[in-house]
Amino acid sequence: RRHLLDLESLSAEEITTALDVAQRFKEATRDCKVKLSALAGVTSVNLFFEDSTRTRTSFSLAARRLGADSVEFSASSSSVSKGETLLDTAKTIESMKIDAMVIRHRSPGAPQMLAKNLDCCVINAGDGPHEHPTQGLLDILTIRQHRGTVAGLTVALVGDIAHSRTARSNIWGLKKLGAHVIVCGPSTLVSKQWEKLGVEVSHDLDDIVARCDVLNLLRIQFERQYTRPFPSVREYALLYAMNRERMRRAKENILIMAPGPINRGVEVTPEVADGSQSVILHQVNNGLAVRMAALYLVTKASR
Ligand code: CP
Repeated sequence: RRHLLDLESLSAEEITTALDVAQRFKEATRDCKVKLSALAGVTSVNLFFEDSTRTRTSFSLAARRLGADSVEFSASSSSVSKGETLLDTAKTIESMKIDAMVIRHRSPGAPQMLAKNLDCCVINAGDGPHEHPTQGLLDILTIRQHRGTVAGLTVALVGDIAHSRTARSNIWGLKKLGAHVIVCGPSTLVSKQWEKLGVEVSHDLDDIVARCDVLNLLRIQFERQYTRPFPSVREYALLYAMNRERMRRAKENILIMAPGPINRGVEVTPEVADGSQSVILHQVNNGLAVRMAALYLVTKASR
């Protein structure tokens, strides 16, 4: 069985193939009335143990646009509330003869555990702070569409790197495709350890903003702040929010990205989030194409 569990274990060629397939699906379904039949007869289940708007909806739409059946599982209204474990829950659903399981879970490694124990394809839709591979792919696809290539670009991931699965998937994918990656944020949320992987570490957005081709503005993950000291929201916004003044010092063609959901006024001001350099909604749109590619590639390779 093929799975999509992370970008760390994928080669540059595998990442490029996923991006190319996503681009082809995007073009083939540009008029959203077109429905393909590439996954006719396939059933995928969305097993989400954490909230989601973008990822869940786009996996569901992606399956339908390729002619697959897509089933929703909601942890809060399931027998998980009666004490059923993740593995028992997943095996129960698997026994109904499904082809793919898309899982989001707060525990890092939950998708890997399911992949080892189930006889269906598993796609990681976000496992705690570990990885969010389809988010990494859709971010990279968005950069590639706007710049033609990723190699040689300077891409800064700004914000809560410590708790961000999006940051990890972006770092692996962008590095493999030849980008220069900067992680930027307060020292409580950005570790110097990243330097060991060839990533530049900065605690000063004003110092790096002028040389970035892309800024990906990550949300502060309040729900994952355990005991770590953290600057106040007001301090954070003062030091790291992408605002009009910082835009004046950025490259004219800078891409402003955010995986969403965004906290307006914290990591980005509304005029920048909605401004001419923002590609935030392009990212959402590309999420659909990338999830079509993910479902197609894992299930096709497993047939
Ligand atoms: N970016 C992202 O994963 O958004 P959702 O939590 O809304 O799916």
